[in-house]
Amino acid sequence: MSQHIQTSRLTVPAIRGRKGKDKIVMLTAYTAPVAAILDPVVDMLLVGDSVGMVLHGLPTTVGVTLDMMIMHGRAVMRGSTRALVVVDLPFGSYERSAEQAHESAVRVMQETGCQAIKVEAGEGVPETIEFLVRRGIPVVGHVGLRPQAANVDGGFKAKGRSADERALVLAEARAVDQAGAFAMVVEGVAASLADEITAAVSVPTIGIGASPNCDGQVLVTDDMVGLFDWTPKFVRRYGAMRELLTQAAQNYADDVRSGAFPGSAEMYMFKAKDA
Ligand code: KIV
Repeated sequence: MSQHIQTSRLTVPAIRGRKGKDKIVMLTAYTAPVAAILDPVVDMLLVGDSVGMVLHGLPTTVGVTLDMMIMHGRAVMRGSTRALVVVDLPFGSYERSAEQAHESAVRVMQETGCQAIKVEAGEGVPETIEFLVRRGIPVVGHVGLRPQAANVDGGFKAKGRSADERALVLAEARAVDQAGAFAMVVEGVAASLADEITAAVSVPTIGIGASPNCDGQVLVTDDMVGLFDWTPKFVRRYGAMRELLTQAAQNYADDVRSGAFPGSAEMYMFKAKDA
């Protein structure tokens, strides 16, 4: 039996090799239709645990489960053929031990078919990254503002205000690099700190609320297309989906109430012989 390795998607070595070269374009996706729209345009699709807040209305990412990530990961894999797909390991699925992380990562990769997983780089996580990488699991690290630590940090706060905090985040990034991650998301840090991290690590940095000098950028797609009434400082709105959806819903409601919808073009009209 011949082994068929999927070669149509961007690969981990290809992304790893983009350090200091062509910028990496990454967006989040949680569903098959959105993945299909983004797939020809981006290099990487992130099935982020932001899905909990964006699609499920949770207050933070802490309530997201491994089963939720797997369900959305499978949908994104079905909708895409070209981008490298990364799935987040959610809160509680990897922090206890390297073995727990391995079990979760294997489940995610086997049940979704994704090429890599992402973990937030808290206490002990670089050792876990090394454990996973040595066992054939490609890992993206996530440093700086770590949404899964929102309860510890007292909210979603940008990092790098004090010298101590800058040193801590830089040390985290170096540790993630040395542990063998093939890329790292750098979120919510002072631009100068993002530049320092990008210069200090050997792998591509993918910024969000960071710096244009990162090796790539990522945004939550729903923020980028303007689906919410509040836009974080680091987001640029490239669309007005909220206004479009509101107007479309209003037009539909008006037509239903007035009897203008459905019209003759939207009805099945069988001729007598078909009856
Ligand atoms: O969960 C997510 O969408 C993320 C991005 C914000 C990088 O981690």
